[in-house]
Amino acid sequence: MGKVRLGILVSGSGSNLQSIIDRIEAGALDAEIVVVVSNEPEAYGLVRAEKHGLKRALVNHREFGSREAFDRRLVEVLEAHGVELVVLAGFMRLITPLMIEAFPGRIMNIHPALLPSFPGTHVWQDQVDYGVKFGGCTVHFVDEGTDTGPIIIQAVVPVLDDDTAETLAARILKQEHRTYPAAIQLFAEGRLKIEGRRVRVMPLDRSRDEAFLTNPVVPQT
Ligand code: GRF
Repeated sequence: MGKVRLGILVSGSGSNLQSIIDRIEAGALDAEIVVVVSNEPEAYGLVRAEKHGLKRALVNHREFGSREAFDRRLVEVLEAHGVELVVLAGFMRLITPLMIEAFPGRIMNIHPALLPSFPGTHVWQDQVDYGVKFGGCTVHFVDEGTDTGPIIIQAVVPVLDDDTAETLAARILKQEHRTYPAAIQLFAEGRLKIEGRRVRVMPLDRSRDEAFLTNPVVPQT
């Protein structure tokens, strides 16, 4: 199995980048990070990349007159490194159709909520405030919308009655670090088929058809 060539875009801490680096270095992910790009000069994700000897690029969105010009530069950098899958990992800029045309069906994002619920930002506080009993994260392909692309993997976690945005974010982040590498591995194995809004994972796995979770716990009847 060839290693899929990843271009990872970060804007901040890069903990999702780190989880992908760790899985690759453990020999558990058939991928190679060929470039890490940030729009933020101070993004700690660039420090993580440097510590692991990864190629880095800074494309500071403030230096471009339009989103399109910024995206055009991003595409140039990604194509120059032969990127096959673009991985948005805590990347805080909106993608334009220009990027999607360059990498159709080959841009992934992770969102710290169970889409389509709670798109956008402030998602942890929104999940706590709404009073949902489960939160989670969603790995999806990026389409022209915001947080609207076809869903690859979701993980659910309980929302506890004394949760704050911070405690929920920490619980979800642990699942982000498991699900993102898993989604990239499925892509690397050619097991993801995008069919309109849906992503089929081949071969069909029916092992979860009896699974269920309740929060709070419901006594077994
Ligand atoms: C994560 O919660 C991710 O879901 C969101 O940005 C946050 C920070 O990600 N997109 P990272 O630590 O920079 O990977």
